[in-house]
Amino acid sequence: MFKRNVKLSKGECLLSNKKGRLSGRGQNSRGIRPRKCTYNSVPGVFSNEDAFSERSYWDRRYNLEKNTFEWYKGYRGLKPLLLKYLKPDQPLLQVGVGTSTIQLDLVNLSGFEDITNLDYSSVCIDHMRSLHMMVPELKYLQGDVRKMTAFEDGCFGGVLDKGTLDALLCGDCADDDSCKMLCEVSRVLQPGGVYMMVTSQAPQGRYRYLSDPAYGWKVSVYEVGQILEMDGPYSLNTDKDLAHLGLPTMPYSHFVYVCLKI
Ligand SMILES: C[S@@+](CC[C@H](N)C(=O)[O-])C[C@H]1O[C@@H](n2cnc3c(N)ncnc32)[C@H](O)[C@@H]1O
Repeated sequence: MFKRNVKLSKGECLLSNKKGRLSGRGQNSRGIRPRKCTYNSVPGVFSNEDAFSERSYWDRRYNLEKNTFEWYKGYRGLKPLLLKYLKPDQPLLQVGVGTSTIQLDLVNLSGFEDITNLDYSSVCIDHMRSLHMMVPELKYLQGDVRKMTAFEDGCFGGVLDKGTLDALLCGDCADDDSCKMLCEVSRVLQPGGVYMMVTSQAPQGRYRYLSDPAYGWKVSVYEVGQILEMDGPYSLNTDKDLAHLGLPTMPYSHFVYVCLKI
């Protein structure tokens, strides 16, 4: 049963289903689950839920869509939390960069000095690398977040993820893939570093993935509304069990999980 929908730019819509996964289906207020959906701005890119975990889907999508595209929120919407938890003088890793440009704003508007942007789609990596070839603070690398052999232990002060854990959780091996990804994220983070994960999913659908003691994280959660100046960020860190916080308190809000490596 779909619980709500989240409007994105360019006519795209994500629906939260009962598994708490990212879903790119068309709007369906009655909770009927269509087999296929259309990505409105790119006629011809069809997907079911599982496709978001597959590289071929993203390659095809980025081949068809040459513009940049920001999932969930961009720099303006996340600024207070980005600046509170990520340090401009520490190397930052963005996993699953796609065609987001939040990293350019972090350099130009907040003075970030070194941001590595990773994605397993070589199509978006080549595109973004050429787009930002005059920005020495930005590096682009093709690679799989589940096996980041290019990086040594503890080499980043922060890891930013907008929608990439969500994408992995759409696959058939969701538990295994998320575990591999989060182990790797924890490994490349230095002690005191932060993994910041942005999603449409409330703690009930996400907290369990992040709270495994094996990662060594202290997790805080924020809800960020549509218009940040009026709508947050609101801390959801209450005495209540975070794992059971369900529906959002605001329409079209997003959630930011801040995982501090102890
Ligand atoms: C929902 S999009 C988010 C893009 C971007 N972060 C944004 O906020 O606009 C998810 C991205 O994760 C990438 N991705 C999915 N699985 C991945 C993996 N195993 N390793 C690296 N990137 C992955 C996809 O190629 C896609 O670009």
